[in-house]
Amino acid sequence: MNSPVWHPFTQHATEPAPPLIARTEGAYLETAEGRRILDAISSWWVITHGHRHPAIMSAIRAASEELDQLIFAGFTHPYAEALARELVTLAPPGLIRVFYSDSGSTSVEVALKMALGTFRNKGEARHRIVVMEASYHGDTIGAMSVGARGVFNAAYEPLLFEVDRIPFPAPGKEQETLDAFEAATRGGKAAALIIEPLVLGAGGMLMYPPAILSELSRIARETGTLFIADEVMTGWGRTGTMFACEQAGISPDILCTSKGLTGGAIPLAATLASEEVFAAHYSQDRSRTFFHSSSYTANPIACAAGLANVKVWQQEPVAERVAALCAMQAERIAQFADDGRFENARRCGTITALDLKVPGAGYLAEAGPKMRAFFLEQGLLVRPLGNVLYLMPPYCVTADELDRLYAAIHEAGDRFGSPS
Ligand SMILES: Cc1ncc(COP(=O)(O)O)c(C=O)c1O
Repeated sequence: MNSPVWHPFTQHATEPAPPLIARTEGAYLETAEGRRILDAISSWWVITHGHRHPAIMSAIRAASEELDQLIFAGFTHPYAEALARELVTLAPPGLIRVFYSDSGSTSVEVALKMALGTFRNKGEARHRIVVMEASYHGDTIGAMSVGARGVFNAAYEPLLFEVDRIPFPAPGKEQETLDAFEAATRGGKAAALIIEPLVLGAGGMLMYPPAILSELSRIARETGTLFIADEVMTGWGRTGTMFACEQAGISPDILCTSKGLTGGAIPLAATLASEEVFAAHYSQDRSRTFFHSSSYTANPIACAAGLANVKVWQQEPVAERVAALCAMQAERIAQFADDGRFENARRCGTITALDLKVPGAGYLAEAGPKMRAFFLEQGLLVRPLGNVLYLMPPYCVTADELDRLYAAIHEAGDRFGSPS
């Protein structure tokens, strides 16, 4: 053991030592020896424009000349104020308050606490959370509780709270999902539905249409259940629009955002809340305060990066870049529609995915780590979710780079697939 570092989601007993990355730029990670690795998963879905976007890096440098962390209870700073105003404008209508935290998981914890606090402060005994099967919302205890149960959290199961689960709206089974949600809201105990809009990421890049999202939102509204959209992965253009909710024409009561919020450069998260949610906590009675904080809430340098990211969206043709990437992805994934080595070739916005046919499919599929090693040998960062291959590149990726990636997927199909 040469390094004391314990890496995330890494089995140190079986995995090789990781490459040492000395530099990042655009769509690439570069090792100390100068080997370039094409980042086809945007470094766990965070990098949107490309690594080290000059305007974002320059904003980080400038802010660090003025401010470092400062307490955010009882104090504020210009970057948090300006970014919050921008977020309220960019987000679906009705989300009027911005609560900062520092990761996707914490933005989810905040959302769940806001939902429970809303009903408690209103004197309504609602505390159940409704979730979709195969969801992923993060790795803290609350976020795991509302996510899929499996090998990742079996050890922590005794700590996780109970939730009501509705099935994933697989093609032809959409009505079952809607019926299950209606049933879960009967009895009046459901406080909130938390959902990844349009794409369930870590659960296997499962995609469902906007119409289902709007139906779920309708049922939530009709039954007084708060609708929490976890846009941690889907936000900032990934699904083709700024937020995935836009495609369903819905406004959630609470929205979680992180990852692309700073273009991915530096950690920051925000949980946006509706007037109703904020108002339930607004009172002369101090016991109704929203009791949540973390030390690094609204870090000024991270907020400056967030603000610079918003400016990049406003001043550069990012929407056009996203549209071009969607088109390039659509063209390439189409080749796999009738490919016997794969199934379920699919796309939502800039994200494509397909399932390699293997005997033991699932997250622990043997093919997963083998394919990861195979891609890395070719200088490609592709990190399959078991037998599910997906590409979620930064928006600066070129047509040629995508061609390289799809050629490698073809080869992986030959090497690791076992068509039935
Ligand atoms: C939908 C969703 N929610 C929450 C999270 C957790 O975010 P973080 O890893 O920043 O805690 C993720 C991370 O991938 C995610 O995809």
